[in-house]
Amino acid sequence: MKRVAIVGCGLRMLAFARALCESYAGTHEIIALMDIDAGKMAGFARAAGLQVPQYTDFDQLCAACHPELVLIGTVDAFHAEYLVRALDRKIGVICEKPLCINRLQCREILAARERNPEVFAVTSHNSRYRPVARTLKKLLAGGAIGRVLSLEYHETLDQVHGKSYFRRWNSRRALSNGLQLHKSSHHFDKMNYLLESHAVEVSASGALIAYGARAPHRFSGEHCHTCAHRQECPDAIEYDHDLFDSTLYTPDLCIWSPDIDIEDTFAASIRFANGVFASYSLCAYASYEGEVIHIQGDNGRIEARQLQYLSRTDDLHNQKAVPEESIRIFRFGSATPEEVPIERESGSHGGADKLLFAELFACPPAASLPTLQDGIYAVLTGASIVESIQQGRKISVMD
Ligand SMILES: NC(=O)c1ccc[n+]([C@@H]2O[C@H](COP(=O)([O-])OP(=O)(O)OC[C@H]3O[C@@H](n4cnc5c(N)ncnc54)[C@H](O)[C@@H]3O)[C@@H](O)[C@H]2O)c1
Repeated sequence: MKRVAIVGCGLRMLAFARALCESYAGTHEIIALMDIDAGKMAGFARAAGLQVPQYTDFDQLCAACHPELVLIGTVDAFHAEYLVRALDRKIGVICEKPLCINRLQCREILAARERNPEVFAVTSHNSRYRPVARTLKKLLAGGAIGRVLSLEYHETLDQVHGKSYFRRWNSRRALSNGLQLHKSSHHFDKMNYLLESHAVEVSASGALIAYGARAPHRFSGEHCHTCAHRQECPDAIEYDHDLFDSTLYTPDLCIWSPDIDIEDTFAASIRFANGVFASYSLCAYASYEGEVIHIQGDNGRIEARQLQYLSRTDDLHNQKAVPEESIRIFRFGSATPEEVPIERESGSHGGADKLLFAELFACPPAASLPTLQDGIYAVLTGASIVESIQQGRKISVMD
């Protein structure tokens, strides 16, 4: 039995805890929890049905419980700190994305990796496990469109899911460094995975347009649960007070707050080490949710759509939305596109979590899992896009 500790007891780690208890109880045992917020941790333990020791200090947890594997799912800015501390204690790590939020943290992680090359450590980038991404990977590896020359990637968050990013801590630059890291690191990892390369140069622009104090709105406050306008404001929400048994990182920050300091819109040109050119854009207030990926090869073009329509306020991750997934190949000289069948999966994140967990919790874990270096490449792309927007110039990603 592998002794597992969870660090950062939030919504994401709840999915891990449930999967471990339901599907991997024969090989993995959750032995302790850690969070700086005791109320949140208690709510988490109740929701996951766990009766294990709870710590607000990582060193105390390690000294008392001797975990062999740590799952890190804290607020993004703190991933690097726990990752380095776990590696230096020779404890295996599964770290949520983004692996970290800036270049300095990338360097600290690489140094810890060099000190501890033998310790198991991976980044849980689940997006590359989605059925559309896996099908695209197979097509490209099989040479379906020849040599890849360019790629276009458009990410849209609908107005329910999009707003949720502005209700939470990730709307503060200091805690997430923006959606370029918090959200798009998934997509940058997927681009790297599909292209078998990494970004070397980016140029980007972006803005806060739909949310924040400068966007048109009628009411404004700090949190919905303390706001004087909560009866009349169309954007007021209620959250699960039993799960978020705390006032520290509640998911009901005002989406019109002057403290929001990240972009809700950005676009980037990206050059890859293997010569591929890509364009990437994110819009966090769209009419529908999803991603559209076009890949042009010297022998044809692939167009993939992974969309969900009509998400509802009580359906944050679009489990009940109407899906539209398709992959089509347009070949030179043919008037008819070729429809490619997609092997669908059920479950959270389009079935990606189930496939990721199966690899993470296999004994031994799968060799194909996203590495720390994969996590770092994705972070460096996102951090470079932030730098390019802030500095108004082209950024060399690997500097
Ligand atoms: N892969 C995915 O599909 C996916 C989906 C959602 C979230 N995530 C990632 O999972 C992580 C957690 O997200 P979430 O939605 O569960 O957030 P959350 O706010 O629900 O949970 C974060 C937890 O971290 C705790 N925390 C904050 N600072 C800490 C510190 N210094 N030490 C210990 N604990 C600390 C908070 O108290 C909170 O309980 C984020 O990094 C996010 O990017 C990944």
